Amino acid sequence: MENRNAIQKNPADSKSQSNGHASKSNDVAQGLRDLFVHELKDIFWAENALLKAIPKMIKNATSKELVAALTNHLEETKEQVTRLEKVFSLFKEKAAAEKCEAMAGLMKEAEAIMESTEKGMVRDAGIILAAQKVEHYEIATYGTLLSFAKTLGEDKAADLLQKTLSEEVGADVHLTEIAEAHINVEAMEAA
Ligand SMILES: [Fe+2]
Repeated sequence: MENRNAIQKNPADSKSQSNGHASKSNDVAQGLRDLFVHELKDIFWAENALLKAIPKMIKNATSKELVAALTNHLEETKEQVTRLEKVFSLFKEKAAAEKCEAMAGLMKEAEAIMESTEKGMVRDAGIILAAQKVEHYEIATYGTLLSFAKTLGEDKAADLLQKTLSEEVGADVHLTEIAEAHINVEAMEAA
């Protein structure tokens, strides 16, 4: 298991004391790389957890558009897991998951929303709310991973991360469209 403290610069590192500027920037690159890999493990856990969570959302959703959007995003998520495995191998790392407490919390929240609402438009609105929180978390993570990969000169990894980031943004925009076009209005009428 990755030690989060490992990303911190070791003050006892003799190289950084004796070798001035060049080794300092090496330390920064290594620190950024370690942080990148740590975040990669975090989002790898999150995506794999979503492969189990999205089908539950689909089962609970009523609106055809919402079911279609979630089903489409489930397929995208499978592809995103494969892309992450490729990014791990580009960084010469074994694909490994590290529990993402933030995503675990968002998923708990999604379950609580589904349990506390009646199946129909209100629950659909709640599922969109939960799914958009997930998307925003993913957008933040992939946006950061993308900029780290670019900084580290890992262009192939950056291309893969950009693809996933675009899918997450697309999923988020689509959920907003569904909410605005159907669900929120109908949830009001049903109340
Ligand atoms: Fe994703």
